[in-house]
Amino acid sequence: MLHAAHKADTSSTNDVHNDFVHQNFLLSAQQYNGMLRAATDISRYPRTINARGEVISTDIGEWTVGFWPGCLWYEYEYFKTENWKAVAEKWTRSLEKAQYNTTTHDLGFMMYCSFGNAYRLTGNKAYRDVLIKSAESLITRFNPKVGAIKSWDSFKSWDGHSVYNFPVIIDNMMNLELLFFASKVTGNPKYKNIAIKHAETTLKNHLRPDYSAYHVVNYDPQTGKVLSRETKQGFADNSAWSRGQAWAIYSFTVAYRETHKKEFLNAAIKTAYYFLNEKNLPADKIPYWDFNVNQSGFNPRWSYDPSKYKTVPRDASAAAVASSAFLELCTFTGSNDRSRLFGAAKEMLETLSTKTYRADVGTNGFFILKHSVGSLPNGVEIDVPLIYADYYYLEALLRYQKLTSPVKF
Ligand code: GLY
Repeated sequence: MLHAAHKADTSSTNDVHNDFVHQNFLLSAQQYNGMLRAATDISRYPRTINARGEVISTDIGEWTVGFWPGCLWYEYEYFKTENWKAVAEKWTRSLEKAQYNTTTHDLGFMMYCSFGNAYRLTGNKAYRDVLIKSAESLITRFNPKVGAIKSWDSFKSWDGHSVYNFPVIIDNMMNLELLFFASKVTGNPKYKNIAIKHAETTLKNHLRPDYSAYHVVNYDPQTGKVLSRETKQGFADNSAWSRGQAWAIYSFTVAYRETHKKEFLNAAIKTAYYFLNEKNLPADKIPYWDFNVNQSGFNPRWSYDPSKYKTVPRDASAAAVASSAFLELCTFTGSNDRSRLFGAAKEMLETLSTKTYRADVGTNGFFILKHSVGSLPNGVEIDVPLIYADYYYLEALLRYQKLTSPVKF
């Protein structure tokens, strides 16, 4: 039933004032109509593909579960048709019980990308209530001594010996938007205060003098002391993992939007310029999976065999996150920064929308973008589509459309 209803659902009540955005949404809708036909089990969330090109989906516990419903909400936001709304609602509701999950720091990704968009686009208070409970669950992981929300329950260094029990990863900043939201709708500042504290602690301990980001900072939960700075998904402990850098840009931009604290704006701009000025950023602005792969002075502690890679894999997901971030950040800056950031985002979106990165309809497991990397050191999801690359790409297209619209939204 769903199938027939969705077959030709690329009609739109949206004024087509941006042909670039429109063509990309038309293609994305065709891909996702295919995904909807294939993904019939709503307890399994599309994430990537295997070597045979088949979709790999996950259960409700994974950090990526909110992106597929989120992508459907972006289709609805663009096309404004009831069919997209119906499938977005169905997939969002399927995540309801994740609101009680206190074993993960990823509730912002999981719930704000799904229920957050649902509430924003429908105003349905039931979605808001799920978000508040999710925020409540997330703050159970906050430790006032550290001034941060715990990421993983434990972290084993690549040396195989050192184990830490209060790791915080740069990605965790992305979960704060849920907390800012919860304070706004409840009037209770406790969520926001935790978000601000976490952002301040991250600002102090996760950024290097050149504004590249460490991936993992391990804390002593009793004293709050930094015990080590390492990586799990990057090339080396002292390297700049591309998606981590993109998370930093995006999340400090959000922190500034929500607080107007200048130090967060400064961090967002400086981390953005680290990304754009990195000498290893390829000319097409789609970064290698880590900015420092194979460079002297950067020594992986995991077993790395460069001969396995003819070229260093790119990470389209990092480009998608960064371009979406630049399109928000550029609205908070002076005109020079604005045109640099907007121009970079436009270029990245244009590159992502070429045949090199954007899949032909019916291929790529029905994901939109190709060539992302989940975790190369762990040997998983290398040069594949990833649902979060799609999510931030669609978000960036919508942001781009709003900024280029002759009609102010
Ligand atoms: N933990 C989120 C990521 O892999 O970027």
